Amino acid sequence: IGQSIVYRDTIDSTNTLAQQLALNGAPEGTVVIADEQTSGRGRRGRQWFSPPHSGIWMSLILRPELPLAHAAQITLVAAVALCQALSRATGVKAGIKWPNDILFDGKKCCGILTEMHAEFDQIHHLVVGIGINVNVPQEDFPDELQDIATSLQAIRGERLPRAQVVRTVLEEFEPLYRQYVANGGFGTLRDAWKANNITLGNRIVAHTARGDIEGKALDIDEFGVLLLEKDNGEREKIYSADITVFT
Ligand code: BTN
Repeated sequence: IGQSIVYRDTIDSTNTLAQQLALNGAPEGTVVIADEQTSGRGRRGRQWFSPPHSGIWMSLILRPELPLAHAAQITLVAAVALCQALSRATGVKAGIKWPNDILFDGKKCCGILTEMHAEFDQIHHLVVGIGINVNVPQEDFPDELQDIATSLQAIRGERLPRAQVVRTVLEEFEPLYRQYVANGGFGTLRDAWKANNITLGNRIVAHTARGDIEGKALDIDEFGVLLLEKDNGEREKIYSADITVFT
């Protein structure tokens, strides 16, 4: 991973360019990275704040030979790698909020946006988009992000060289990715995900397409699906949602 690196000063979205390159045959492990994004995308159609000189806005092109059913699990694999990498880079323990946000002290510093392309029921390629707020002084976040976002600089108390953080992220990601491919899914990384998570055991609200579901986060299964226990004792599987965690 990272044998081939495509760099742009400014781009609309590294995920968009990575999709184009992947469709045109870019090899597995190609990294697309930009200093600034003009239309950085977040999950659920949200925008991703991507100012110049401040963050790591990058997308990985991956071609695991796996059934499409396993594609979404790559996001949890990336979350484990990022949590470990950002803890290493700052010397402060980060935590994973299910499914794939990396937080310090309850504030998000990193998000993951996976996009997939299928051919029949096999993965053709995956684009794993990673956004990390690195050198953003806390006061530079827009008002609406003040209470929910943070950066490595804010946590560490000093600026960090972005190239070094990129290297740390790829170093942590590569072996976990190899495991995911070799074992045909996220299953063997479940314990590592759990060891880094700040979701399980807490009360949560899952904001799903079917509406809000409230309860206690009990566990995740080998596919990364969240198991929630409602107050009436009923259990629900949450496949996809944004969640609020009460700690
Ligand atoms: C989220 O938490 O909502 C996901 C944020 C993902 C942001 C990254 S930045 C690099 C890549 N390009 C994009 O447009 N988005 C992802």
